[in-house]
Parts: sequence; C-alpha cells; structure tokens
Amino acid sequence: MNIEAVQLVSLPKIPDDRGNLSFFQNRGHIPFDISRVYWIYDVPGGERRGGHAYHTLQEFIIALSGSFDVILHDGRREIKYTLNRSYYGLLIPNRIWRHMENFSTNAVALITADRPYSEVEYIRNFEQFKATD
Ligand code: TYD
Repeated sequence: MNIEAVQLVSLPKIPDDRGNLSFFQNRGHIPFDISRVYWIYDVPGGERRGGHAYHTLQEFIIALSGSFDVILHDGRREIKYTLNRSYYGLLIPNRIWRHMENFSTNAVALITADRPYSEVEYIRNFEQFKATD
C-alpha cells in the first residue's frame, strides 16, 4: 500500500458552551463498518506502541486526549503525524507499517478497526514487510 493512501480525516466538531462534541460513524467519516474499538492509555514516558502492519485490516486512530506521534512506513517512505486534537482521525489502510511514540501524560489513543482481533492479521517483522511489499 502506498503511504499516500493514509488520510488525516477532519471530524465534525459541535461547539457548545457546555463542552464540545465530536463523532464519527460507519461510512460517513470512515470508509468501513466498525467491527472493533480499543484504546491505549497509561503509556509510560518514552514507551512505544504498535510496530507492525496488517495484511488486510484498516484502522482509524484518534487522540481522544493528549497527544502522540504516529510514524508510518510503506516500505519505501516514512511519514509522521502528530495527533493532538480529538476532532482529527488518522485513517490507515492495510499494509502500512506503524508505530506510536511520544505519548503525552494522560494521552488516550482510540482505535477503530474493520475486523475483530486476530493475530494472523499481523506482520510483525519489518524486514519481511519490506520484502513482501
Ligand atoms: P498489539 O496490537 O501488539 O498492541 P500495540 O500494537 O498497540 O502495541 O496488542 C497487544 C496485546 O493485546 C496482544 O497480546 C494482543 C492483545 N490484543 C487483543 O487481545 N485485542 C485487541 O483488540 C488488540 C488490539 C490487542
């Protein structure tokens, strides 16, 4: 997959004196039906998450709170996105290597996927990923 297929998606933001509201929904803001949602939190300073690609699975990542960097690689090019607003989401197609780092204190990464969890979806060896791209 080409790194240019990665998209930063701007989500609705409904401002209100009582607090802002944002949302996303199937096929409205992301091009797939949500099958699974998980979140990463309480990341100790300096730790990394991710470090893999998926064979067919797509994900959509939001910094629900705080900030972190998502580093993406398609086997040829690397690109870094800093997520720090809860009304932006990063759409990552299959076969894109990613890791997340530089988590702020209290950062919460909300991740939506188009498939249930399955270890067979993972490509965890970067050299193998590059070789088969
Ligand atoms: P992993 O995807 O490697 O974490 P990350 O990419 O965020 O660093 O998953 C870590 C562990 O959690 C691994 O043992 C699999 C398990 N896991 C689930 O059981 N269900 C899930 O939806 C996810 C994402 C992970």
